[in-house]
Order: sequence, then C-alpha cells, then structure tokens
Amino acid sequence: MSTSNPKKTVPADLRELVSRPPIYRLLGVAEKLHGKHLNAAWKGLAGVPGADEPGIPVVVKHLPNAGQIYIELACGLASQVLSLPVPRPALVFADLDDLPSHPVGLTRNPVLLFGSLFQAEDPFTAQLAHQGGQAAEYIWDQVCGEKAGPAGSAWDELVANPDRHVQNLLFDGTKWWLFDHNLALQPISKLYASIEDSNARTQLVEHTARVNQLLEQVVKRRPVDHGVELEARQLSKHAQRLKILAIEMRKWRVLQGQVSDIVRMAALIVDLIALRLEPLALHIEARLRKPNAEALWNTSMN
Ligand SMILES: Nc1ncnc2c1ncn2[C@@H]1O[C@H](COP(=O)(O)OP(=O)(O)OP(=O)(O)O)[C@@H](O)[C@H]1O
Ligand SMILES: [Mg+2]
Repeated sequence: MSTSNPKKTVPADLRELVSRPPIYRLLGVAEKLHGKHLNAAWKGLAGVPGADEPGIPVVVKHLPNAGQIYIELACGLASQVLSLPVPRPALVFADLDDLPSHPVGLTRNPVLLFGSLFQAEDPFTAQLAHQGGQAAEYIWDQVCGEKAGPAGSAWDELVANPDRHVQNLLFDGTKWWLFDHNLALQPISKLYASIEDSNARTQLVEHTARVNQLLEQVVKRRPVDHGVELEARQLSKHAQRLKILAIEMRKWRVLQGQVSDIVRMAALIVDLIALRLEPLALHIEARLRKPNAEALWNTSMN
C-alpha cells in the first residue's frame, strides 16, 4: 500500500546489489595478467574501505579512456539485474606501487580501475582460447550449445557489443561467463558530453554495432533452433528492473568526485539500456536477415 518506502519497490533479489556502490580498494600487490588483451590487467584482492570484511578476488583493468569505465560499470550492473552470466563489477582504487608493470603514462595515484569478480577458469579451455583455429571453433561449439550462446547474443545486441571474441568468454568448469564490455555502445564515447540531449539519446537507442560475433556463431551452428529471439523477449520483460537499478544508483552516496561522475554516467547508460529493450527485437530481426548470417539465409531461401 505504502509507496513511501523506496525499498518496497526494489525486488528482493536486487536489494543487496543496490544496497551500496561497488567501490573497493586493492589490498596489497596484484599479479599482472599476461595475455593478448589490449588493456593492462591484474588479479588481486579487493576490500571495501572501512568495512571489516575479507577481501574478494578481482581482476582489475586500466581503461585509458574514461568513457569506457562508465560503460563497463553500467553493463556489469545491468547484466546482474538481467540475470546474465557476467562477473559482478566493481570500481577499484589501487596504489600504483601495487600494480606491477603498470603503463608509464599512469601517474594519478591512487588510480581508479574497473574490476570484476574473479572467476576461476577451467585450465583446459583457458589454453584453447589462445590457440585460434580449431581450438577457437571448439570454444564456439561449446558456448553456442549452452544458454550463454543465445542469451549472450541477445545481450550483446542490447548493449551493441562488437567485441565478443573467444578470449572474452570464460568457462569455469560448469558454466560460461561473458565479460569485457568497454567497447559496447561505442557512440557514447563521442556523445557523452551531450548524452542528456534527446538527439544524442535517440542515436544511442538506435545504434547497432558493426558486428555481433556471438550471434553469428550461434546462428551458424544452430540455424533453426538458436532461440535468440526468445532470449531477447525474456530480456525485454525487465525494463522496470533496469529503471529501478538506475534510480537506486542515483541514491548512492559517493564521496569521491571522480566516482560520483562515473556513477551518474553509468546510471544514465543503464536507463539507455532499458530504452534499448524496445527496439531489441527489431535489431535482432535485422541481424538475422543479413546475408552474413549465412546458414539462416540459406534456410530461408530453401
Ligand atoms: N572476472 C574475471 N575473471 C577471470 N578472469 C578475468 C575476468 N575479467 C577479465 N579476466 C581476464 O583478464 C583478461 C583481460 O580482461 P578484458 O578482456 O576485460 O580486457 P581487455 O583489455 O578489454 O580485452 P580486449 O583486448 O579483449 O579488449 C581477460 O582476457 C581474462 O583472461
Ligand atoms: Mg578482452
């Protein structure tokens, strides 16, 4: 009956997520990750400043373009609300001394990094991800055969993410995880100064990425039963949950100016993601009609 208590409007399963901003501090020296990824990344333990809690294992990465940290945070939080297998996101302050081999251009100390909850990778699949060729085909076969294939395809379309190569997928021995969203919703990096302007918002709602890699792979392998439209319909039901997330993010009390800007921008992006749910089915339909979704095209021509 009462609508005065805002907690009443927050679904029970989201309360913990929205209860506080995901701001952490790196605890001790992190381990540099060596791989083909573009941005410098480390694995370490992170804790909530002032809280008496054990550290949590995280992977942190330095994003030289400030706009990309908003996008990662927004995508990380939105995906939790949509129950997608994306590691939980964090903003992590780190002392430069705790980041071995950090980029020379990094001078701000402490530096703010994008973090995500560490997921232990199945070692066999991990080594395949770096081999390309048949090994990459094996990874695509595996992920496309699971729910993460079609669900991840709908998700990547929702956030216009062109960057889903096999090294941005991770198998933990039981399930597949999707991570790395700093290249999603790319026009934001150009439009963020005017994001509150309605033209810019329309452009962002209508934007589609150059490619949806996971969708292409899923359609190639499962031309008639890929189920991507169904996954998109499921996501479309959750506009309200995304709006609640954005409302609750705006209530977070954040002391550091740099972080409050990031949270404010990420909340705007979450609202945009909610708006993008409406044209999602159309975007997917258009993607499926393209000749490069080869198998489907052949099926529809027969
Ligand atoms: N939550 C996580 N759990 C375990 N490993 C992770 C996690 N997040 C990232 N990694 C590891 O860190 C690497 C770098 O992360 P990420 O892919 O986000 O960086 P990137 O530089 O943006 O990559 P790209 O070159 O694909 O743009 C990944 O390839 C993966 O091995
Ligand atoms: Mg990556």
